[in-house]
Amino acid sequence: MKAGVESNNNPLVARSGHSNLSVRWPMQILIIFVGFVLVLMLLCNYTSPLGIPVLSQYLITATTTEKNETTLEAILRKASMKDKTVIITNLNDAWAEPGSIFDVFLESFRIGNQTQHFSNHLVVINWDQKAHARCQAIHPHCYQIESKSENATFSKEAFFMTQDYLHIVWKKIDFLSTVLELGYSFLFTDTDIMWLRNPFELFYKDADFQTSCDNFSGNSTDLNNAPNTGFSYVRSNERSIWLYKFWFNSSRIYGRMHDQNAFNKIKMHPHISAMNVKIRFLDTKYFGGFCQPSKDFNQVRTMHANCCTGLQKKVNDLKILLDDWRNYMAFPEDKKQEYSRYHSWSVPKYCRF
Ligand SMILES: *[C@@H]1O[C@H](CO)[C@@H](O)[C@H](O)[C@H]1NC(C)=O
Ligand SMILES: *[C@@H]1O[C@H](CO)[C@@H](O)[C@H](O)[C@H]1NC(C)=O
Ligand SMILES: *[C@@H]1O[C@H](CO)[C@@H](O)[C@H](O)[C@H]1NC(C)=O
Ligand SMILES: *[C@@H]1O[C@H](CO)[C@@H](O)[C@H](O)[C@H]1NC(C)=O
Ligand SMILES: *[C@@H]1O[C@H](CO)[C@@H](O)[C@H](O)[C@H]1NC(C)=O
Ligand SMILES: *[C@@H]1O[C@H](CO)[C@@H](O)[C@H](O)[C@H]1NC(C)=O
Repeated sequence: MKAGVESNNNPLVARSGHSNLSVRWPMQILIIFVGFVLVLMLLCNYTSPLGIPVLSQYLITATTTEKNETTLEAILRKASMKDKTVIITNLNDAWAEPGSIFDVFLESFRIGNQTQHFSNHLVVINWDQKAHARCQAIHPHCYQIESKSENATFSKEAFFMTQDYLHIVWKKIDFLSTVLELGYSFLFTDTDIMWLRNPFELFYKDADFQTSCDNFSGNSTDLNNAPNTGFSYVRSNERSIWLYKFWFNSSRIYGRMHDQNAFNKIKMHPHISAMNVKIRFLDTKYFGGFCQPSKDFNQVRTMHANCCTGLQKKVNDLKILLDDWRNYMAFPEDKKQEYSRYHSWSVPKYCRF
């Protein structure tokens, strides 16, 4: 009996379904019509109590803020490695001039051992219009940051530690904080650092923030190390974002200092350990510089023209350094292991004085 009722019900359902269908047609036309009118009203920025102008206002603001964001975001996306990591450097006009530091920097990617492909992931931050134009002429990923005065004190070489210089270095920390917030990890590298081998292989897996040193104590977790934040690899996470905000905030107290010296002041701050930020210092054996050169040609990853002021001195010495590297690379493979026994860097030379 039950089965009979059920089979009787089926045609009933089908019939009522059929009658519903004939009602649905005008409904669908009405919905399409209303939708069409809504879109028209939106396009014409029609004002009504429905809140439509608010919606279109929202869309307009969303696209304008996005425009500012997308410029940076689009550049980061284009330059990024698969794991959302970018390499970042920054330039002013004097450093960007043909034959100056930027050219020597890019040359190091070409003659380093398998470092060429890293330049595809390099984002160059430009502080002035001239540097930006020069960057765009020779590199795919250039970003011009708005800066307080376009009036070229930045472009001059002799602006080290001036007000404008300090404005820039703190702006840089703020900018890098934005990069982290956008979800990108970065390797920040000064432009006077020569890339001779892949640096990523030697980074600590567990660190939020790792930085090169002017002088390395021999212990990578020892906060007494003298950091050189001109080469720092930072993983994007809540701890590193916090650290960059904390660092940037310290400009209220240390604003008359270089960002790196401020970092040196705050590195032992109890808030940093309380936030569990893992900081590591990189060995100058691999990440060397003129303060403390890497002694082994077979191990060196990067060399920095630190402990040197004066643009022309840096350029001269970095060119000599690249010649040293070329000589090493031209040496027979089976003799390379011995090379550092009989050869050392010819630099610092001009930078010594
Ligand atoms: C977006 O524009 C604002 C105002 O011009 C500026 O302060 C901010 O730094 C810009 N954001 C980025 C990521 O450049
Ligand atoms: C260059 O890199 C390749 C691949 O990693 C390696 O086999 C070779 O030994 C390296 N040469 C030098 C001089 O480091
Ligand atoms: C540059 O500085 C000069 C003199 O200080 C000033 O007259 C000029 O308006 C400035 N130009 C810009 C673009 O700020
Ligand atoms: C760095 O270390 C070298 C020895 O490795 C030492 O001569 C020099 O004084 C140190 N410099 C600083 C700033 O600590
Ligand atoms: C390295 O430095 C850390 C922090 O100062 C310390 O706890 C650790 O014992 C040091 N390691 C060595 C091998 O000296
Ligand atoms: C930085 O300063 C701002 C404004 O005083 C504050 O709201 C924020 O919590 C500070 N951030 C850090 C990480 O210290």
